[in-house]
Amino acid sequence: MSQAIHRVPAEWATSAKIDAAGYAERYERSISDPDGFWAEEAKRLDWIEPFARVKETSFAEADFGIKWFADGKLNVSANCLDRHLAERGDTVAILWEPDTPGEARRITYRDLHAEVCRLANILKDNGVSRGDRVTLYMPMIPEAAMAMLACTRIGAIHSIVFGGFSADALAGRIQDCDSTLVITADEGLRSGKAIPLKGNLDEALKRCPSVQKVVVVRRTGGAVTMQEGRDLWYHEALETASADCAPEAMGAEDPLFILYTSGSTGQPKGVLHTTGGYLVWASMTHDYVFDYRPGDIYWCAADVGWVTGHTYVVYGPLANGATTVMFEGVPNWPDPSRFWELVDKFGVNIFYAAPTALRALMREGDDYVTRTDRSSLRLLGSVGEPINPEAWDWYHRVVGDGRCPIVDTWWQTETGGAMISPLPGATDLKPGSATKPLFGVQPQLVDTEGKVLDGATEGCLVITDSWPGQMRTVWGDHDRFFQTYFTTFPGKYFTGDGARRDADGDYWITGRIDDVINVSGHRMGTAEVESALVAHAKVAEAAVVGMPHPVKGQGIYAYVTLNANVPDSEELRKELSQWVRREIGPIATPDVIQFAPGLPKTRSGKIMRRILRKIAEGDIGSLGDTSTLADPAVVDNLIENRPMMP
Ligand code: WTA
Repeated sequence: MSQAIHRVPAEWATSAKIDAAGYAERYERSISDPDGFWAEEAKRLDWIEPFARVKETSFAEADFGIKWFADGKLNVSANCLDRHLAERGDTVAILWEPDTPGEARRITYRDLHAEVCRLANILKDNGVSRGDRVTLYMPMIPEAAMAMLACTRIGAIHSIVFGGFSADALAGRIQDCDSTLVITADEGLRSGKAIPLKGNLDEALKRCPSVQKVVVVRRTGGAVTMQEGRDLWYHEALETASADCAPEAMGAEDPLFILYTSGSTGQPKGVLHTTGGYLVWASMTHDYVFDYRPGDIYWCAADVGWVTGHTYVVYGPLANGATTVMFEGVPNWPDPSRFWELVDKFGVNIFYAAPTALRALMREGDDYVTRTDRSSLRLLGSVGEPINPEAWDWYHRVVGDGRCPIVDTWWQTETGGAMISPLPGATDLKPGSATKPLFGVQPQLVDTEGKVLDGATEGCLVITDSWPGQMRTVWGDHDRFFQTYFTTFPGKYFTGDGARRDADGDYWITGRIDDVINVSGHRMGTAEVESALVAHAKVAEAAVVGMPHPVKGQGIYAYVTLNANVPDSEELRKELSQWVRREIGPIATPDVIQFAPGLPKTRSGKIMRRILRKIAEGDIGSLGDTSTLADPAVVDNLIENRPMMP
């Protein structure tokens, strides 16, 4: 199946914005004349002051720096709202479906503009000015997009913390960037269950002295405590706020947002994106990858708490004047037809989701799909993790009735938007391959020593030169930015992913090769889960690795060594699971906890993760050389006591 090739359908080759020859020609120009190419692409935005400079970047240590369009000025909210008003004021910008099937909200560009301006004034009235950080801890409601846009209007930097993160994780992210104001909701709702967002925030704020004000959206009407002088209701503040708020002229390199993401070491880092390059990238990739046409109903089923939600629910589509669907709920509630019923309800043309959701729905049987119509669908997309050929085939054959191309988009929080992806009118598709680099993206495969590998091969995926959507720094720690991404292979951006390139030059991402695991399309640092586990009073040591999981892609496998004289038990296993949920959030819940009297270590005390990974995978026939271990018997014990898989 993985050898199958789906040629570009004839009608796509003739009608799409970019065909095969167009791709080749533009790609070549983007590399040979980046200044010319990007000056042209940047015209898709409205600039308050035009730029004269385009690409000023270097990945080399001596003159390291990344700047795009640096002397230009623009405003993101003006690009996403104001400039559409004359032609598209009455077009629906956000089409929102609540958790419980019911009445959708249709918010036009005009209404969105007015509310964003009001909220921007509320922020100003509550002390937020240009450059200040505002944390958003919100459910998937239109107010989340409004809050993002309101920040950009006044030049404040937003930092969204996914609503599934715990009070602890939230506190760490607020403290790291010293936010002065937080926007939240009373509660979130997912498959009918309330999530106490304001309650979690109250808990977090006990440790966040920088926060002066909290704006609370009323979503469920659930009981919350409002702290006098600190907390205000969004709907009350809105009543008196003026809808007149001029957009701030921001430098192209002024910070736009921070988004925390997991790496292989330490605590999550604040990925910083800036204004001009990011928006050019978001707009261009949304336009070409999805072959977006005015009037399309476009749905990216990601949460705004992740980068996919930033770029492809909010900024890309709104910059392009699209109608973007926001969905508060989950794919399998009230039943596994929900996605496809929504496709029919809204007449969705372009649908973009993560493989984990598709695999979960695939298990429920075709009937939940085939009983819906879906004839509005034209194009399907996949993001966040490798899509296995079986899931690709099901998506194509059952969901898309064999009609719709699938764009498998590889990218990262750090890259701002899609990097390697088919273009539907240009690229032959291979199930499981993200295929070819987008404009300006120069991928390369290298071996662990950094030697460049040519032709059909497999290696570490690096990008050799900058693209406009690239992150600019780690918030508060520029050295960490350089060390993390540019020192493994000096002069190149290291993605942390491995990839294969076939004889046609198509890329197949094989997954993370660092200590990051991808659980249901969400990045989790093994170090974070380990430090949560060892924070428990009964735990002496912990080592966490990924394991194959049929729905999540990867699951979390934790080896835990208890303190001396602490007996292991089922209760303790549950307690540790709960503990991790509380420390980080439900997405970090271990799938397997194995109590381990000892961990395999080298004589110098380094944990040999390679062996732990093999045991977690059940691949005990090929453990490799264990003779360098301080105590090889440890491994036998781990193999014997391997718990039953869930
Ligand atoms: C993985 C999500 C294979 C990859 C946009 C990357 C993928 C990490 C794909 C980034 C894909 C993302 N095929 N793997 N199409 N898309 N990944 O930062 O390992 O949450 O490094 O960004 O997800 O995850 P992040």
